[in-house]
Amino acid sequence: MRYIQPSNLKAGMVLAKNLYGSRSELLLSAGSFLTDSLINKLEVAGCDGAYIVDNSPDEPNVKGIISTKLKENTVKAVRSFFQGIDRGDSLVTSYSFSTMKHLLDDIIDEISTDKNAMVNMVDLKVFDDYTYYHCVSVAALAIMVGVSAGMNRNGLYKLGMGALLHDLGKIFIPKEILNKDGPLTYDEYEQMKKHSQFGSDYLKRQNALPLESIIAVLTHHERYDSKGYPLGLPAAKQTIEGKIIAICDNYDAMTSDRPYRTAFSPSEAMEHIMGNAGIMFDPKILELFIKKIVPYPVGTIVDLSNGVKGIVIENFPDSYMRPKVKLIPKLGDPIENVVYDLCNDPTLLNVTVVGINRNKETK
Ligand SMILES: [Fe+2]
Repeated sequence: MRYIQPSNLKAGMVLAKNLYGSRSELLLSAGSFLTDSLINKLEVAGCDGAYIVDNSPDEPNVKGIISTKLKENTVKAVRSFFQGIDRGDSLVTSYSFSTMKHLLDDIIDEISTDKNAMVNMVDLKVFDDYTYYHCVSVAALAIMVGVSAGMNRNGLYKLGMGALLHDLGKIFIPKEILNKDGPLTYDEYEQMKKHSQFGSDYLKRQNALPLESIIAVLTHHERYDSKGYPLGLPAAKQTIEGKIIAICDNYDAMTSDRPYRTAFSPSEAMEHIMGNAGIMFDPKILELFIKKIVPYPVGTIVDLSNGVKGIVIENFPDSYMRPKVKLIPKLGDPIENVVYDLCNDPTLLNVTVVGINRNKETK
């Protein structure tokens, strides 16, 4: 299985994983044969990529942080919660709230059982309406960091709930600002910045969440250098939950396609985030986060410094910049099934990964 962008999809390829739409509806099942018209539809709908069957002996095993089913169920509950509040439907809201609590328990279970798990895949947020997927991804990432930080179950629950609801306050931002297809004006940005205050105010009124979760919602845009909002708190006054969510929120937003830009690769996003250690983010927490993110996830196509391209088929703990790569033969090139083990093969010490391949002529 390998992950490829829509521009590289070709008729005849077979989907390796289910593809879901923005409302968790199944668009195409694993095993579907792609046709030109299906590929067109996926491109028009804003699909940012798909996992494709690659029948090679070195086929990598790609696994998300949490199972697809749990992720989709949590997305459904978050959507129902947000939309219930938006409509003023308190019955739906309280039902989805209790569902979210149970699902969060399952997320903590899944992540806690594999403490060494890594983020080693490109997270599929297939369509442009990504808010709910983003909330769930941030929660899963945050819990993963929380486990590394040694938090107990109750601490993980408080952190997870804050992460799941960190952007709840966007419901109270005018839709024309929220959905604007382009950069915000100064005034619009000032309005948008109120979402963390609005979200925490709403949750405080419900009196149903631990204080730590509410503070996390309020402070997820505070910065280590105290230039964040809404309070401009110094780092010493910020909580661990808010600091963890700030990093995970940034990383997940950067690695997602948005209407005004395409997604950054995990390695590009990591560079940006690491460049902000001690500026936007707490360096100690960032250290825990970095250890969990694989910059070149399995299944992605990378350029190597010797001019060839390859598919990442394995990553090694403590050596994520030097994965095992299966080369992609150029047309007419006799090399077949050549694998570079950049971590363990001493003859390849002079070869490095330059970056993720974004060329349309990949194969
Ligand atoms: Fe936010």
